[in-house]
Amino acid sequence: MKKHIVLLPGDGIGKEVIESAKDVLNAIAEEFNHSFSFETHEIGGAAIDLYGTPLPESTVDACKHADAVLLGAVGGPKWDQNPSHLRPERGLLGIRKALDLYANLRPIKGFKNLLHASPLKEEVISGSDLLIVRELTGGLYFGTPSERRDNGQSVVDTLAYTRCEIERIVDKAFEAAQSRRGRLTSVDKANVLESSKLWREIVEEKKAKYPDVAVEHVLVDAAAMKLITNPTHFDVIVTENMFGDILSDEASVLTGSLGLLPSASLNESGVGLYEPVHGSAPDIAGKGVANPVAMILSAALMLRYSFGLNDEAKMIEDAAQGALDAGFHTADLRVENGRQVGTTEMTKLIVDFIKTQT
Ligand code: NAI
Ligand code: MG
Repeated sequence: MKKHIVLLPGDGIGKEVIESAKDVLNAIAEEFNHSFSFETHEIGGAAIDLYGTPLPESTVDACKHADAVLLGAVGGPKWDQNPSHLRPERGLLGIRKALDLYANLRPIKGFKNLLHASPLKEEVISGSDLLIVRELTGGLYFGTPSERRDNGQSVVDTLAYTRCEIERIVDKAFEAAQSRRGRLTSVDKANVLESSKLWREIVEEKKAKYPDVAVEHVLVDAAAMKLITNPTHFDVIVTENMFGDILSDEASVLTGSLGLLPSASLNESGVGLYEPVHGSAPDIAGKGVANPVAMILSAALMLRYSFGLNDEAKMIEDAAQGALDAGFHTADLRVENGRQVGTTEMTKLIVDFIKTQT
């Protein structure tokens, strides 16, 4: 298979971990006889420094013509005082919008020998393996009007969805559930919100199309509790933008390390954007100690969701687990009797695992 991938390293440790993803993809290409070509572009602070804008047209253009996009992270203290149109995060929001990335997927899995890193008791978190599917381009964050009124003394925000916007994200979630354990939890607030009532109706209608998926509806407040008390209950969770924002951040702390969590953002045409959940980590940037696993697992998601290369994706995931199982870990993780390594050594361990397994 021949694919063209745009790399957007961004800032801070983004620049370091993107190299790890590239090394792993090159190893996969070699072992499985694929051809991956790479093209690097600027985004965020790096783009501000070079072009005076966080999202140059050339970057948007390259992404639109790519088969998929891998992004490191953006931001850093250097640009914190900039006016809002010259903030690195603008680049991130801009590229999500330009590619119409309406579906955000975040898998969250308790890695085996790292369980004590979780704030939850080991027997509670053990075995949890869930996927949050969040609607990313509609709802409260984009609805109009959103404004101050009466001399600033009253405000309005709007939670708006169309049938079509709900249908496409619900379909994505059902498909994801089919490829996993076949359980879908739709999270809403249908006891209060009109938008949630339509959401629930559409999920009910779609059930017939996916008879192999078991569906339940859970109110968002109950879902927030259940994530903490019984995370193994969940397989796939689908929800609207703001609920998904909050629940995915809640879920991301369950496993105890930001450095292990990947994400995928998808559109209709399949040009996905894949990035770690963590930011640019200015406190450790340039030191060669960043955990590359979240970025490497993001590359695995790219193989699965944009290219349909499930065996290759699984190989990367097994390799990352294999390196951790063998006791190797970066400084952000604590492993009993483990051996601490840097970014490049961790990457090499994963690459070597792939080479010996194939
Ligand atoms: P952060 O995720 O960059 O860092 C939080 C803490 O986790 C830090 O102590 C950091 O060293 C550690 N950490 C994060 N990823 C790690 C990794 N792969 N390996 C080892 N340790 C890791 O979040 P923070 O500090 O709130 O934000 C820093 C900058 O990143 C800010 O400019 C922020 O705006 C930006 N940011 C960008 C995101 C993105 O590009 N998607 C997401 C979140 C923040
Ligand atoms: Mg958030």
